[in-house]
Amino acid sequence: MADERLIVALDFHTLDDVERLVDDLGSSVNFYKVGMELFYSVGPVVVERLKSRGKKIFLDLKLHDIPNTVAGGLCSLMNLGADILNVHASGGLTMMQKAAEALHAQAQRCGVECPKVIAITVLTSIGEAEWFGAKKIPEQVVDFAKTAQRAGLDGVVASPQEARLIREACGENFLIVTPGIRPAGANIDDQSRIATPAAALANGATHLVIGRPIRAAQNPREAAEKILSEMRGA
Ligand code: C5P
Repeated sequence: MADERLIVALDFHTLDDVERLVDDLGSSVNFYKVGMELFYSVGPVVVERLKSRGKKIFLDLKLHDIPNTVAGGLCSLMNLGADILNVHASGGLTMMQKAAEALHAQAQRCGVECPKVIAITVLTSIGEAEWFGAKKIPEQVVDFAKTAQRAGLDGVVASPQEARLIREACGENFLIVTPGIRPAGANIDDQSRIATPAAALANGATHLVIGRPIRAAQNPREAAEKILSEMRGA
């Protein structure tokens, strides 16, 4: 059984690229992230394709709009069969609350399992230099995480650096999905909001989203196995 803490980002434009990577990774990876690049290029069929191969999907479309619209959008996405959906926490408590309520109600009506909904805190690409908020980034991230939890969401997306603070603030049963992960020894220009798999897990991350280090590797399966073994040793 593949370690589902690893979510591989399918940042492609075509289904052929998706199929090739999923073939290459085989049984070593069971969880994939479909983001806006892929979804806007190929549409919902990618979710069907991955589902038909028995894979789990984090549909990373980062919804952000008025409560009614986000709630409706999430319900549409749930019908595709995604396992994790997300919204921007900056949309506010009411937006997240309404979204969670609508989704749970719709899941119950349809007799399907409700997907997990997580909130983007502060985009991990934003460093202190370009941060515009009144609070410091870690404080804002924890505030967003607590608001998401209060709204009934299942977790957050956050940088691996902030995972520890979120874990302390939100307790054990809260998903913390961290992008910005690079294998130990990788050559990284900007270390600020990047971590190794072991460090992210030690900080309390439940899932690691990794794309380029696997997609760009000459042997993606070998690269994924190396990351998985780092995760096992963490
Ligand atoms: O950089 P990498 O290819 O591993 O990124 C995988 C995914 O993580 C991307 O699809 C992107 O949405 C997300 N990411 C992020 N913040 C970063 C780097 C990547 O949210 N600093």
